[in-house]
Amino acid sequence: MTASSDDESPMDSWRNERRTQALAAFDDQIPALYRQRIYLDTKVAEWADCTDEAPTSLFLWGPLGVGKTHNAWQATRRWVGRQFDGNYRGTPIVQTWRSTALFDALRPDDTGGTPKRLMKALQTADLLYIDDVAAARVSPTGWTQERLYEIFDERYINRLPILITSDVKPSQISHIVGERVTSRSNEIFRGGVVHLDGDDRRKGGAAA
Ligand SMILES: Nc1ncnc2c1ncn2[C@@H]1O[C@H](COP(=O)(O)OP(=O)(O)O)[C@@H](O)[C@H]1O
Ligand SMILES: [Mg+2]
Repeated sequence: MTASSDDESPMDSWRNERRTQALAAFDDQIPALYRQRIYLDTKVAEWADCTDEAPTSLFLWGPLGVGKTHNAWQATRRWVGRQFDGNYRGTPIVQTWRSTALFDALRPDDTGGTPKRLMKALQTADLLYIDDVAAARVSPTGWTQERLYEIFDERYINRLPILITSDVKPSQISHIVGERVTSRSNEIFRGGVVHLDGDDRRKGGAAA
């Protein structure tokens, strides 16, 4: 067999092709504002690279406009690319949600339950990214908080990653997500709480 010019094995080149396809598909999911490549925070990049030292899950918090959502989208993209290295298990499934949309979706439907398929998808996706978890002005009901707990708990016991952005620290989300999720979060995000600090980038430019 002829080796390709850069000595890629057929397996490597097949994987690289899959990676390119997966990243192209993921790019279509990224809101236009967050598609630009940026330098990721070091700890965020470590998480995305799935290094041995990196925590499974990441809680990215800091003030408004500091770049949390942009870091999270780009870190997720980098994480997707990494899933084609080493222990490849197929194209990863990523669930990305703004918290307000997620809480809405987790409310009881006409039949009085949360759609089972949605629960399963949220519990088993290879990565669950929830943006701006404390953004809701009104806390979800206890019923919805209980569904959230079922998602977090199931992911925790299966060591499946959760990526969260928030403008408040993990100990301050209990009024939104409830006590049980907050308490689980202590374990889930141990070693994975990253504080992004700096100026509000939206106020940059002429006003700076
Ligand atoms: N590292 C970066 N380089 C350039 N622009 C950035 C960077 N991080 C964020 N931005 C831009 O700054 C603005 C605020 O970022 P965003 O991620 O929405 O902040 P947050 O989620 O913390 O409120 C957005 O327009 C975003 O594209
Ligand atoms: Mg944001």
